Order: sequence, then structure tokens, then C-alpha cells
Amino acid sequence: MTEDDTPDPFADEFAEESAVTAEYTSSDGEIEASLRPKSLDDFIGQPRVREQLQLVLRGAKMRGGTPDHILLSGPPGLGKTSMAMIIAGELGSSLRLTSGPALERAGDLAAMLSNLVEGDVLFIDEIHRIARPAEEMLYLAMEDFRVDVVVGKGPGATSIPLEVAPFTLVGATTRSGALTGPLRDRFGFTAHMDFYDPPELRRILQRSAGILGIELYEDASAEIAGRSRGTPRIANRLLRRVRDYADVRADGIVTRAIAQAALEVYDVDPIGLDRLDRAVLGALVRSFGGGPVGVSTLAVAVGEEPATVEEVCEPFLVRAGMVARTPRGRVATQAAWLQLGLTPPPDAAAGGIEVRAREPQVDLSAEE
Ligand SMILES: Nc1ncnc2c1ncn2[C@@H]1O[C@H](COP(=O)(O)OP(=O)(O)O)[C@@H](O)[C@H]1O
Ligand SMILES: [Mg+2]
Repeated sequence: MTEDDTPDPFADEFAEESAVTAEYTSSDGEIEASLRPKSLDDFIGQPRVREQLQLVLRGAKMRGGTPDHILLSGPPGLGKTSMAMIIAGELGSSLRLTSGPALERAGDLAAMLSNLVEGDVLFIDEIHRIARPAEEMLYLAMEDFRVDVVVGKGPGATSIPLEVAPFTLVGATTRSGALTGPLRDRFGFTAHMDFYDPPELRRILQRSAGILGIELYEDASAEIAGRSRGTPRIANRLLRRVRDYADVRADGIVTRAIAQAALEVYDVDPIGLDRLDRAVLGALVRSFGGGPVGVSTLAVAVGEEPATVEEVCEPFLVRAGMVARTPRGRVATQAAWLQLGLTPPPDAAAGGIEVRAREPQVDLSAEE
């Protein structure tokens, strides 16, 4: 919606936060828990990860031991937390849950570890954010199922070895590249979660609609799937927004037309771009002639924090082949121009992974 449109009261009430952020938002709350797949068979998509995990878990079960430590890596909203819960469920173990940022001191981790019972699954979300002393304690725990707890300070300090019950660590990370080598090496199995394709997202949507008691037409689920950025969390959130619209403005049944109208209210375009994504593309193409331009310049142009542009918008724009990262800055590809209904200049980058930078058309010297 542009500024001179008549504001839609429905939009004012609901559309403050972008509907297509892959990050967990407070509105996802309990509903997300009810929509989590409960077993490997219930988990839609990621066929390779599922098959590999099934072997890891069954193998360990047959031998009567605990499986290797497992690292789940991938962008937000693709099912890492769900998978950690499934792993514990499939093993018939309890899941102890914590996160990297919560483990600020080694003592926090020691407390967690000393409470484990044999066979427990310890889930550390955002494990790349674990503090160094806790990480070092974790090495020993993962390898030898013991930790050294330091008691006292200074020359009188002693280190007391403490047994830890054999457990399986499941770590989740959105940035596996940020993990230190020694930590990564201690995982016996790494599962890479990938974005979902539209048919998988449709199945997820149909499953969620069933759980939430929403009548969702087939073509409506295709409409929502296409705008979900390959991410189940976004698909489920859009489904809830569409349901609100169907309940308030229609008879509750989600048809394709209802889905389209609802997603328009929430500013999610047919390929899943939201208002900020479009602003970034627009600035890149219209104000900077397609780039290259640095992220901070781009951020100023759209009135956002550089981190937001870099971490929220850019990954999807890059994946969609509309923006390329080059050593000189961001470049709009042909697809970006076309997306905005403009004719790309003859030298516009074709898109894809290897893109050569064109000559800068704006002065970047102040920035780099
Ligand atoms: N394969 C899947 N099948 C069905 N729903 C899924 C799947 N993966 C994720 N979801 C849904 O997406 C939501 C977010 O998943 P979550 O496991 O929290 O992602 P992550 O931890 O990777 O951010 C879950 O509540 C669940 O409803
Ligand atoms: Mg998670």
C-alpha cells in the first residue's frame, strides 16, 4: 500500500510487524507449539535429513546406547527446534532445553549438565552464541561425559571433576560458520536444513489447517505457499493472518481470492516480498542505478538499520536472485528490475552466484 492510498483499518490494526519475518515473534506463541510435527513421519520435507536421522537414531537404539551428538543447522523457521523435540521423542528420552545466550558462565552449563539423567537429550539452541568458558566445558562433557568444576578463586582454586550421565547433545544454529572448529568437530552428525519447496509448504499448510480447523482450499494453499519464502514458520503465520481475514471479512472459508486479498492487506506480495524488501529493491534500482552500493548507504536510503537490511531483507533477496553481493557492494540483478516493472539496463547482472561488480555509480568512498 502506498501512502496516498486510503488506509485500511484492518491493516492498521494488524500489519505493524512484517508478516514474513522468519524469526520467531511473540504472536507465534503457543500456536507454534501446537503445529510442531511430533514424529519423524509427521515431519514434512527435508527427506535426506529425515532418512539420515532415522538411521542415526535407530542404530543407537539397536545398540542400546546414546546416539552421537547432533548439530542442526539452517535459517530460522525451518524446523530445527521441532526436530530436536522429535529426536528426544523418537529416543523416548526427555528433552532439556537451553540456549547459547543463556549459558553465559561455565557454572550455568555445569548446573544443566549435572542434572542430566542417562539418555537425556540436551538441546542448546543458538549454540554459536555460547560463551567461551561454557563452550570449553562443553568440549569435555561431549567427549568424556565429565566436567571440571573450578571451586574458589586465585591460587587456592581447585578443580573438581564431576561425572555427567551419558547424554546426547542436540545443537541448533542459524550460523554454522560461526561455530568454532573444536565445537563443530565434536558433533558426530550434522543435519543441514534447507528451504522448502512450494509443494512441501502446501502439505504443511494443509496439515496446519487441519489442526487449527481452517477450511483451506487447495489453490489457496498454493497462493500462501508461494509467498512463504520457503519457510514453514512464515507459511503458518500467513495462514493465521489469512484466517483472521476470512473470519472477519468473509465466512471463514479460505479461498484463493480470500488469501490474495488478505495477503495484500499484510503487504506480502506474490513472491513473498514485504514492504521493506520492496523499499530496498526500489532504492537499489532507482536511487543507485542498480548499484553497486554499500549496505549502510542502502539502509540510510530506506531509513532502516544496516543490520536489519543485511540480516532480514538481504538473505531472501539474494536467494531469490534479485540482489547480488559483490566486493564493491550490492548489485541489482535483471530479476530485480523486472520485479519492479522496469527494463533492466543491458549490463545488469544476470543473477546467480558469481556476479561481477559493475563500475560504481555512486561514491562509496565515505563508507568503506
Ligand atoms: N517440516 C515441518 N513440518 C511441519 N511444520 C513445520 C516443519 N518445520 C517447521 N514447521 C513449523 O514451523 C514452526 C517453526 O519451526 P521451528 O522448529 O521452531 O524452526 P526453527 O527452530 O528452525 O526456527 C513450527 O512451529 C512448526 O509449526
Ligand atoms: Mg528454533
